[in-house]
Amino acid sequence: MLGALNRNLRPVLRQTRLRLFGLRKTPTCAAQIRCATTSAALRLQDDCLVLNYEGTPLRFNYVWLRDHCRSASSFNSATNQRNVDTGSIDLSIRPQSTAVEDGQLVLTWPDGHVSKYDLSWLARNSYEGQKRSIVQPRVFWNLDIYEKANIESAKWDTFLTCDHELKKFLRSYLLYGVAFVDGVPATVEATKEVTQRVSLMRETTYGGMWSFTSDLSRGDTAYTQLALDRHTDTSYFQEPCGIQVFHCLKHEGTGGRTLLVDGFYAAEKLRQRSPENFELLSTVHIGHEYIESSDRHQNHMRGVGPVLNVYPWNNELYLIRYNNYDRSVINTIPHDVVQRWYVAHRQLTTELRRPENELWVKLTPGKVVFIDNWRVMHGREAFTGTRQLCGCYLTRDDVLSTARCFGLQA
Ligand SMILES: [Fe+2]
Repeated sequence: MLGALNRNLRPVLRQTRLRLFGLRKTPTCAAQIRCATTSAALRLQDDCLVLNYEGTPLRFNYVWLRDHCRSASSFNSATNQRNVDTGSIDLSIRPQSTAVEDGQLVLTWPDGHVSKYDLSWLARNSYEGQKRSIVQPRVFWNLDIYEKANIESAKWDTFLTCDHELKKFLRSYLLYGVAFVDGVPATVEATKEVTQRVSLMRETTYGGMWSFTSDLSRGDTAYTQLALDRHTDTSYFQEPCGIQVFHCLKHEGTGGRTLLVDGFYAAEKLRQRSPENFELLSTVHIGHEYIESSDRHQNHMRGVGPVLNVYPWNNELYLIRYNNYDRSVINTIPHDVVQRWYVAHRQLTTELRRPENELWVKLTPGKVVFIDNWRVMHGREAFTGTRQLCGCYLTRDDVLSTARCFGLQA
């Protein structure tokens, strides 16, 4: 699946060599320059500068070029922050002269300021390059794909001390949206320690670390012994929690297996089978809501957004909101679209409910699971007896930041 994805969305801009392309001496033709290691051609058009890369023209807006100048006065390379005041750039700015020297595009602006850009940096950061790249490589999985991948769980003792083990864990988490750590002591404190190795805890109305029993202490089905269908959590937040952590500390009884379903696998199947339904679910906004009213807790939360969320420049999925329990009144869709929305939602639900897409896991004391709540759904079967679960949410930004600092693509 990853191979297929990469073939479809293969970044064309990994290489840095710019090739000469047909350049005619016209009034808009500014330069044709060769250097020892790099041949490049550029063309100045009325609204953009055009560079060619392997037959693909890369277009750069002039204000963008001035805004992205990497000279010391425009950009602080120590803090990686912009110095140039974008609000002061003349919106009709054009370079006075252009050149390519030593693999760099050199532009001189009307006020004499000189901007230099590595050609490889331009290629990487062009819109055309981003459009053909993926932000985060993933393996979309059903049960068969997941089992054949034979993914190793991290081990508690090395996980806490060895960066290599953490990196391996994060790589697997990023690819599959789910990862396990085994051998964790069955206590809330040890669970907290293992989660803090990965990221910061996200405090919510449920607290930081929660300890979870079927005592109906909160106004939510999760606090019962009932089965729970697949869903994403906190869809009623404007920014749903990024990572869900579960650790079953104790269960004396039957049932209670955890269900995991890759929402992106199902959504990609929908995209293949019915692109128009995929598009509908990725453009129509709906609400999710959490209303709790008890002596101890008063909450009314509302999150609004499409079921499927894609990056607009490359159509890559990055977030799914799917929670039939918490979906609120649909009052954001015109009457003539509602029927089509239900058809699209049904088709996604059909994909999500295929038994071959379900991974059932019995969480036992010692096994901590990390779930990408923006992608992988969880549910559970009904259970009997006393079951104590603890866990927390983690901030998504910090997990991705840790991964990037390890050199992983996220
Ligand atoms: Fe949940």
